[in-house]
Amino acid sequence: MTPDPRKVAILISGRGSNMRALVEKAEGYEVTLVASNRPSAPGLAWAEERGIETWSEDSRGQDRADFDKRLGDRLEESGAGTIALAGFMRILGPDFIRRFEGRMLNIHPSLLPKYKGLDTHARALEAGDAEHGCSVHVVTEELDAGEVVAQARVPVTDSDTIGTLEAKVLIEEHKLYPQALARFAAR
Ligand code: GRF
Repeated sequence: MTPDPRKVAILISGRGSNMRALVEKAEGYEVTLVASNRPSAPGLAWAEERGIETWSEDSRGQDRADFDKRLGDRLEESGAGTIALAGFMRILGPDFIRRFEGRMLNIHPSLLPKYKGLDTHARALEAGDAEHGCSVHVVTEELDAGEVVAQARVPVTDSDTIGTLEAKVLIEEHKLYPQALARFAAR
């Protein structure tokens, strides 16, 4: 199938709240597949209930290149021309990244280039930052380092904890990602 940028496959590993926002606010793109490296990811059941095609395979203990190949084949088969990572917690290998180069987005809970990797809310609090937020970026081989296509900011207050900050940022993630994805899919 010829890949169509407006057809989107979403990759998740867990609860999938960003995936739900992408599905519920889909305008200018269509979600054709939700795929996961964790068959028990709660987001998968939610997508299935809505009649969206799903694919999952437990990636634990699997050879990276083999898993990436099967996932990549399934994505191609779905006709998706855009891939949205949404809480996908497995590192994708260089062959996979090259295969889908320039067609993959990710959402990251920090104002990149600050706080690549994990524990972003704790790190923002520890640093005493006055603001924090989330970024949508193009996926490249280097973790959380591709071009940033959209950002949203939230103020950090003295009473914020990791939990309150995470909740505030998540609200912004759910607004930002569908908008950024729609623009990216229409490019
Ligand atoms: C979000 O905070 C996202 O920014 C990060 O992982 C989390 C996924 O949450 N990449 P959810 O599965 O979308 O609820």
